[in-house]
Parts: sequence; structure tokens; C-alpha cells
Amino acid sequence: METRPEIRELLATALAQSCEVFFLTDSSGTILYVNPAFEELTGYSRGEAVGQKPSLLKSGQMSRAFYHELWSTIRSGRHWSGRLVNRRKDGTTYVDEQRICPVRDADGNIRYYFSTRRDVTRELQLEEQLNQSQKMESLGLLAGQISHDFNNLLTVIIGSMELIMEELKEGSVGNKLAVEILRSSKESSALIKNLMVFARRHESRPVLTTLNAPLNELKPLLDGLLGKNISVAYSLSGDLAGAKIEPEHFKQAVMNLAVNARDAMEGRGGIMIKTYNAGPDGVPQNLLGERYSVLEFSDTGPGIPKEVLPRIFEPFFTTKPKGKGTGLGLSSVYGIVTQNNGHVFAANRREGGAVFTFYFPAAE
Ligand SMILES: Nc1ncnc2c1ncn2[C@@H]1O[C@H](COP(=O)(O)OP(=O)(O)O)[C@@H](O)[C@H]1O
Ligand SMILES: [Mg+2]
Repeated sequence: METRPEIRELLATALAQSCEVFFLTDSSGTILYVNPAFEELTGYSRGEAVGQKPSLLKSGQMSRAFYHELWSTIRSGRHWSGRLVNRRKDGTTYVDEQRICPVRDADGNIRYYFSTRRDVTRELQLEEQLNQSQKMESLGLLAGQISHDFNNLLTVIIGSMELIMEELKEGSVGNKLAVEILRSSKESSALIKNLMVFARRHESRPVLTTLNAPLNELKPLLDGLLGKNISVAYSLSGDLAGAKIEPEHFKQAVMNLAVNARDAMEGRGGIMIKTYNAGPDGVPQNLLGERYSVLEFSDTGPGIPKEVLPRIFEPFFTTKPKGKGTGLGLSSVYGIVTQNNGHVFAANRREGGAVFTFYFPAAE
């Protein structure tokens, strides 16, 4: 059926004004037309794109086989739809969801390819976040079922071991072994508490306090945990705003950071613990509150590798060898801070070393 000329003109105007990206190539892939939405998406002007091949946008992240499959599909006259990583003119990459349809002439020969494309990067990120929180939910459920009983068993082991030690002569082989058993049992208990923090979120009893109070209580514990080759410097604000937090959970979170810093620094270095008040200007953009009470925990270790940073709060994510890391430390830090209406960020300091920052809404 013939399309009336005025309708054809209207279609051209619609393509040009559409917020969808449209893209037309000849049968060899040479770009004939892109609309303004394409310019907006990719940063390439129409003048720069026309006459080029779609490889203009190649990110280098897709395999040869991928492009081969795409081309053989459309050359055989079928539609192709899928997602690929492309690169904008400014060098940033994005996930491009495309549909490509062959366009035939009156004799049925494929003369052109017409495609629509959409940047789905943000959608994928949201999907990923949802998956992540569902993983956390199910982990919490599982953990709740076993951690409580397990911790009770450990309490029995630790209590009995302490009694046995009293019976053993100091310096004897038995005594040394008992010390080892006790140390391992206590570490197991700390580990299982990480799981319990996840699972038993409803039992948390937040109180109005300043972050300084639980930090002061932690001091002797941290010293014991870190050994004498790691120094801890404190810079606690004298007029720190109060926050509504569960102090025991908060301490557990700081302990987890300390253990990680110790591991990262291989037993030697420095930790800096800082608290301060922050207004809307001194916090990351996505924090919308007025005032925050902030904890900054940094170390002089090697810092967090770029590829590790995005996964660092994932349950069971660890870069440590089997038997050394569980990957539960930071995921429980994340659980604790968010359960207390706070936010946590991991980053690297300019001078090197990792820095973890907690933001809790300041309470009256
Ligand atoms: N202070 C730090 N410096 C460098 N890397 C760190 C630091 N803290 C955590 N990480 C990285 O984050 C990973 C996850 O930490 P965590 O959840 O505590 O699990 P685990 O300590 O059992 O590996 C660690 O394996 C490590 O690669
Ligand atoms: Mg850890």
C-alpha cells in the first residue's frame, strides 16, 4: 500500500523528534541515517556518524563470535535483538539494547537494516541491586536458622575450655593447646555473631547515643585484636551529634573493619578512627538528610583494588585464600549500618589505604 506523501513527511518528522534512537544502514552496514536521539545517546553528531560503520561504537568488550552471530542473523533476513556494550564518543561505555530489522526492496532483496536502540545501563544496575538485596534476605533467613544454636554450642565449648585451662599447668603442652582451642573458639564465635546480626534484625534495640561512646568501649578490645605493630589513632569530635543506633552491632561492624585492616596491612601499619558532624554539603550526593553523624575508618594498607570495590559488600565475597576469609565481614557491616538507617561507603584514600565511612542521621 502506498503511503500518502504528507504521511511520509510526518513520519520523517516523527523519527527526527522521537526520543527513541533510530539508525539506518545499507546492506553493508554503512550508516545512512541517525536521528537526534542517537546523537544524544552516543555523543556523535549525525555528520560524524553517517558514512561510518556501526563499529564506530565498538567497546572492544564483545567477542568476534557475537558480531558474527548478529550479522548472520540479519543477513539471513531475520530480526536480531539483544544487548551489547558500546562506547560513546567520550569513551564511557553503556549497555545498548538493540533491535535490528532487515528492510527489503520490491524484489525482496535486503537493502537496508533499520535498528532501534536503548541505553539500559541504569535498568541493569537496578536489577542487580534487587538481586543483591534478595540474596541478602535469603542469606539472613538461612543464617537465622543455624547461627543461634551454633553460638550456644560455642558458648559451652568456650566455658568448658576455660575450666579445663584452670586444671592445666601454665606452660605445659596441654595448656598451650587449650589456649589455641580457646582462641579459635572465640574467633568462631565472632564469626557466627556476624551471621546473627544479619538474621536477627528485629531484635536490634537502638538507643540514642553518640558514636564516640561505643568507640571508647571498643578501645581495649581493638588493641588486643590488632597486636602491638598496628597503631590506632583517634580523632573523635567533641560535639558530635547523637544518633539512634544499636551499640553492640555498631561495635561488631567496627571490629570487622579492624580485622580487615589488620589483614590488609599484614599486621603492620596504622588505623585512623575519626568522628565528625556533616551537613548536606559534606556528604555524598544521594544522601538527602540534613545532618549526619559520621565515622571514618581508614588504614595505611595497600587500598582496595578497583575491580574489588563494586563487590566488596557482597555476602561471601572474599579475595582471601580458602580458610582465611569468609566474605561475611563487610556484608555484615553493610547490614548493620543500613539496619540503623545509616549509609556506608568504601573508597581509597589519596595517600593510599582504604577508608570506610558510615553516615548516621543525626538525632535530636
Ligand atoms: N581495609 C581493606 N583494605 C583492602 N582491602 C580490603 C579491606 N577491607 C576489605 N577488603 C577487601 O574486601 C574483601 C571482603 O572483605 P570481608 O567481607 O570482610 O571478607 P573477608 O575479610 O572474609 O575476605 C576482602 O577479601 C578484601 O579483598
Ligand atoms: Mg573480613
